[in-house]
Amino acid sequence: MSQRKENLAILGLQWGDEGKGKLVDILAARYRHVVRFQGGNNAGHTVVVNGQSIALHQVPSGALHASCFLTVGSGVVLNLEVFNQELARLQDRGFDLSDRLLISEKAHLILPHHIALDKWREGATNKSIKIGTTGRGIGPAYEMKAARMGVRMGDLRHPELLADRIRQGYEEVRLRLGAEVGDLPSLEAIVEGLIQTAAPLLRYIGDAQGNLMSAWEKGESILFEGAQATLLDIDHGTYPFVTSSNCSLGGLFTGTGLPPKALKHVVGVAKAYTTRVGAGPFPSELLDETGEKIRQVGREFGTTTGRPRRCGWFDAPVTAHACRTNGVDGLAIMKLDVLDGLPEVGLVTGYRDANGTLTTKLPGCISEWEGLKPEVKMFKGWTTTRGITDMAQLPEEAKVYLEALTEAVEVPIAYLSTGPDRVEGFSWPGTFLAEILD
Ligand code: IMP
Repeated sequence: MSQRKENLAILGLQWGDEGKGKLVDILAARYRHVVRFQGGNNAGHTVVVNGQSIALHQVPSGALHASCFLTVGSGVVLNLEVFNQELARLQDRGFDLSDRLLISEKAHLILPHHIALDKWREGATNKSIKIGTTGRGIGPAYEMKAARMGVRMGDLRHPELLADRIRQGYEEVRLRLGAEVGDLPSLEAIVEGLIQTAAPLLRYIGDAQGNLMSAWEKGESILFEGAQATLLDIDHGTYPFVTSSNCSLGGLFTGTGLPPKALKHVVGVAKAYTTRVGAGPFPSELLDETGEKIRQVGREFGTTTGRPRRCGWFDAPVTAHACRTNGVDGLAIMKLDVLDGLPEVGLVTGYRDANGTLTTKLPGCISEWEGLKPEVKMFKGWTTTRGITDMAQLPEEAKVYLEALTEAVEVPIAYLSTGPDRVEGFSWPGTFLAEILD
């Protein structure tokens, strides 16, 4: 039980889309297990191999390494139709998962009425707050789980009981939607559809917690792959403008059933700037040409929904909060190259509230975010960092910027990414990540 090897978690430190997929993909070659533990197909991880990009939504990013065993933990919510499509896409590209995938019997399903409810809430006729969700039914699926009306993967082994498992939640959604129920299929059609979609997946359903526990006890290495990020965490993010799962470290333990002792390192992933999709606070947002430039150069459009991402400077208080929440021991700074060529690069070091008082503390109440003005420190820009693979090649100006960033966040850099491909970037000399990758 004492063995925990170099078990490592990769977690997002901003509002998602930090480039976690790339890092998981690089590290996966060194790990026996890659595990997803929360979120659903709201996530979109793009991994680029030999110039080919593959978008994954529910399948762990280790899919591209034949030696990796993939686990979908109990904290994940699954859309089975999308899962099947993803498996088929991977199969077409030559990635066969048939003997190396396990889906927790305790993971919950996303059902058509969850998606209908999510879309209805976000729609024009509804007066509720618009979160700008991905419209994938994530919130309602987690709501049903908490309300004890959810359907779990293990229930699929008992098709005769499915209608009873689904009925109460389904009826409640129908009642809420009333005349706006639209073309929501009947309960019978949902059950029928589910039985069909589940058929090819039944072989993958099992005791993921038990399997992970024995893997850990045997000393097999485990890489945990976070989805979304701390500022979207239902407890520690910018509530209510968050997703419905715990994307920060706590979610790893509830979403796998492993104890904290099973983890050694936490790598926090942040872009060299900040982005956010959907509504909600974003103090460092740039609503000018620079923001637009970052969006275009960084191709900041959602992997899942295609929506343009809001862009802004790196926000140190936001990232420092995420580092503390997750006990991050090394930063992975991604997409530094996107800032190449800018005459100046900004770093938000704090905020001034309505009274002009300077603070680095994030408000715990949504109304208190309003009126916060970012304190931006400007740095001289650099020419190019694209594709560089060691410290010595880093322009002096970029070094100065990164030093200020780590000082403000109070966590050292462990990895720097300088382009989308696996080979564009490097681990920071002398860090635990460099040891793992060497
Ligand atoms: P939901 O997770 O679809 O309910 O969306 C809630 C909020 O989280 C919205 O602002 C979404 O844009 C955001 N969100 C959910 N998943 C991701 C992601 O993977 N990357 C970035 N934002 C996300």
